[in-house]
Amino acid sequence: MPNHKSFSRRSSSTEPALRYLRRRGFTGAPVALILGSGFGGMEGQCKADARINYADIPRWPRPSGLPGHACRLTQGRLWGRDVLVFRGRYHAYEGFAARELALIPQLAHALGAETLIVTNAAGGIRADLKPGSLMAITDHINQMGINPLVGPQRLPGAARFAPLAGAYDPALARALVKAGKAAGESVATGVYAAVLGPSFETAAEVRALKTLGADAVGMSTVPEVIVARALGLRVCGLSLITNRAGSTDDSHEGTLKQGTDNAPRLAAVLRELLGLPGT
Ligand code: HPA
Repeated sequence: MPNHKSFSRRSSSTEPALRYLRRRGFTGAPVALILGSGFGGMEGQCKADARINYADIPRWPRPSGLPGHACRLTQGRLWGRDVLVFRGRYHAYEGFAARELALIPQLAHALGAETLIVTNAAGGIRADLKPGSLMAITDHINQMGINPLVGPQRLPGAARFAPLAGAYDPALARALVKAGKAAGESVATGVYAAVLGPSFETAAEVRALKTLGADAVGMSTVPEVIVARALGLRVCGLSLITNRAGSTDDSHEGTLKQGTDNAPRLAAVLRELLGLPGT
């Protein structure tokens, strides 16, 4: 397989990881996918050319190993497209520093990705976003209190004062809705609010988030999107609504179960998305 142009994008911080990954057969791909809670199974549909556990990537921290977060990177063919599949992610609520949340999008960029597709589980705030709903993310509200661009030094190759207006590529969000139709799924659109977690929101917090303009709430994605945009990647976000935010029975186990149960629906939409021209 020819070397992807990725390796012209190496930067000092990703260099050791890139060198190692190249030895392990990674050549790069134009599309990267981050699979959130319960969606990891999709990676099994990828015809893998190379695979590595996050913990084996130089300078990458060991994931904390929450159930449902098997963490590894696969390069291969998924539904006819060359992709990098990041199965599992680092969460701020696990105690990872903001800069550690930058590692996945940084590596995706260094490996030549031009588009980043992020998936996550979220609690529905808007009335129509019930458990099982799918939502194309059109914008976000960062309520995590962290930003991975913070630090004495700029992230290599990334904008310091990255503009985030239009962060979620409008054409890709429209494509997601269209892909949903083709897959027999209704994909809503909405604004994703990110909170630090790991506790779920109080009812008052959910009301506050609603007032702020949030349609759904989760504990991930936003730091990755900030870095992806600062590096110039196109971003597409898909949420699975796993619960009504602020319910008394919110639980991590419930989120994971909804994720696993609905992963095939999410996969069907993403399959159609990757089949559309321009993605
Ligand atoms: N709140 C925050 N994160 C979540 C939720 C929620 O209700 N559901 C899934 N992830």
